[in-house]
Amino acid sequence: MNVELVFDGKATLGEGPSWDEKTQTLYWVDIVQKKIYAGKELLAELDDFIGCLAPCKNGHLILGKRASFADFDPVTSRQTLLSALNEPATNRLNDGKCDPGGRFIAGTMDMNEKDPAGSVYSFDGTVTRTLLRNVTISNGMAWSPDCKTFYHIDTPTREVKAFDYDLTSGELANPRTAIRVPESLGWSDGMTSDTEGNLWIALWGGAAVSCWNPNTGQLLEQISVPALHTSSCIFGGRNRNELFITSARKNMSETDLQKYPLSGGLFRVETKVEGMPTFEFST
Ligand code: BGC
Ligand code: CA
Repeated sequence: MNVELVFDGKATLGEGPSWDEKTQTLYWVDIVQKKIYAGKELLAELDDFIGCLAPCKNGHLILGKRASFADFDPVTSRQTLLSALNEPATNRLNDGKCDPGGRFIAGTMDMNEKDPAGSVYSFDGTVTRTLLRNVTISNGMAWSPDCKTFYHIDTPTREVKAFDYDLTSGELANPRTAIRVPESLGWSDGMTSDTEGNLWIALWGGAAVSCWNPNTGQLLEQISVPALHTSSCIFGGRNRNELFITSARKNMSETDLQKYPLSGGLFRVETKVEGMPTFEFST
């Protein structure tokens, strides 16, 4: 499979890709540069870190900023605070996305990447609940096709955890380890799922995205990406078979930057599978 460069954005920390079905737009962010992109277009420069976002039913975006959730109107660029999180100053929101019920699920990380001081939150538009605590770098999230299983990555563990997911209550139960990523492949980062139930995981430091069967823990496929730190991926395109991949330039040596000059770019690869949709926020 051939990975193609969509945009040589030289993002410091490209992240949070999200596919808007209504407008067929691929949104993504540069967390550190505080930017939101729509494909190759710079959509907004914000006042604070932007970890993740998701399309809303009403055409707006919900933003996971440093320690808050906000509504963003892409037409006027107006932001409205929806929920403020009680987080240590050394934390910020990282990966997040909506569940199939329209809740926004997002997790925080210790910016020093050491303390298990992060949490995973679930916001239904009114109430913000804590789903997980003691996470160091909350990262990829995905649901099984029947939405009964939630997958989550805390990057330093190099694991994917599976939980029973109750879509009615939004509660997690029965945590277990689904996948262990060997050290030689890098660090498990952003994640999405396909309609066959397999997980697609970006490998930070691994210059690749990978496909895994979460029921057996088996690696099914590895696709090289010409960027060292691949950070996240999401399915999009008319047939939802195109995997969009974000990447980062941060923490790279001069030698690595010479070897991977496209680091920080946005990439695309056509797969043989159909991805699960990007779920929208309920409002
Ligand atoms: C975070 C980065 C972190 C990386 C590897 C990313 O999702 O945004 O800050 O360095 O994961 O753990
Ligand atoms: Ca990530």
